[in-house]
Amino acid sequence: MKNKSLFTLAIVIAIMAGMVACKSSKKQEMVTSEAFGTFNGKEVFLYTLTNKKGDVIKLTNYGASIAEVSVPDRNGVRGNVTFGYDNLAGYKSGDLYFGKIVGRFANRIAKGKFTLDGIEYTLSLNNGANSLHGGNTGWHSRVWDAQILTKTDYPAIKFKYFSPDMEEGYPGNVTAEVVYTWTDDDEIIMDYKVTTDKNTVLNITNHAYFNLHGAGTGDILDHEVVIKASAFTPVDSTLIPTGEIRPVEGTPFDFRSPHKIGERINNPDIQLVLGKGYDHNFVLDNAEEVDASVYDPLTGRQLEVLTDQPGIQLYTGNFLDGTQKGRGGKIYVYRSGFCLETQHYPDSPNQATFPSTVLTPDEPFISSTTYRFSVKK
Ligand code: GAL
Repeated sequence: MKNKSLFTLAIVIAIMAGMVACKSSKKQEMVTSEAFGTFNGKEVFLYTLTNKKGDVIKLTNYGASIAEVSVPDRNGVRGNVTFGYDNLAGYKSGDLYFGKIVGRFANRIAKGKFTLDGIEYTLSLNNGANSLHGGNTGWHSRVWDAQILTKTDYPAIKFKYFSPDMEEGYPGNVTAEVVYTWTDDDEIIMDYKVTTDKNTVLNITNHAYFNLHGAGTGDILDHEVVIKASAFTPVDSTLIPTGEIRPVEGTPFDFRSPHKIGERINNPDIQLVLGKGYDHNFVLDNAEEVDASVYDPLTGRQLEVLTDQPGIQLYTGNFLDGTQKGRGGKIYVYRSGFCLETQHYPDSPNQATFPSTVLTPDEPFISSTTYRFSVKK
């Protein structure tokens, strides 16, 4: 009798062990990796994450980037809706931040200078008189460590980067982690955690460009945008905020109800002239679950953006000029992609009235942004 129950127990344990093994090997199949070259002696990989619907995203640890997002249109036909390159050479030469994680400070810092705890710090100037997106060799151009996560419900990868004290002029030894999760509801969830050993400043975002018709298939002027923001931050001629928080009411920046990108983009509004189109930070109301959405009437594809960050940069690809050759040989022409970069307001370290971007050793920066893809019939 005793032997029989021991035998039964052994069988139950064997079945459970089998189930665990099966589950984890299935998980492995949802994330595959292939060599993508080497950079500064570090190996770069291209990862493919497939969810239960069979929809796919590709990520690379070069710049912790989103390289491809393949999602269906209203007829069920999958297409890639984000900008990327076919190979590492493209990523290394491209300077427009396709799909990359941008840090330490996304967007602009005026004249590449800020003062923190009475010390003035000087950054590299890589955008006229200003510093843009963390400087010349910001986090977008670093090889991040990668770990495929297996104890998750969905395919997921953690990218990690250690940024030494004074890298690109910023104080503090900083460790940044971004976990990308690709859910069965076609959501890319980006969970950020950043720590420092010294007071510093931080503004981190993902800089993916999207074209819901399909990347490299013409402009995005017919895409309909909603941004739940009652105000935006006007800029000067070098795209540095003036400090004003201006209501969107009665301006071409009012996207609280849907407007096509092209509807007002060429209005003689001085802010649109300075931005060469939309290239502005919106002050999010943060009152609703979805902070922004873009709908493409042609394909029925929709992107929703959810974030806990106070701002979002709508950039309509005004600097694209057709010289970038992307995945599958696609050419990215003027205004053929839009970005919705969740962020703190640009130049916050120099703007006392903006929410603080100071990161201190006693409190990690924890934040989450989701890009959710769906189809409206
Ligand atoms: C955006 C920025 C634009 C441009 C672009 C990269 O985030 O707002 O002004 O610099 O990146 O080309």
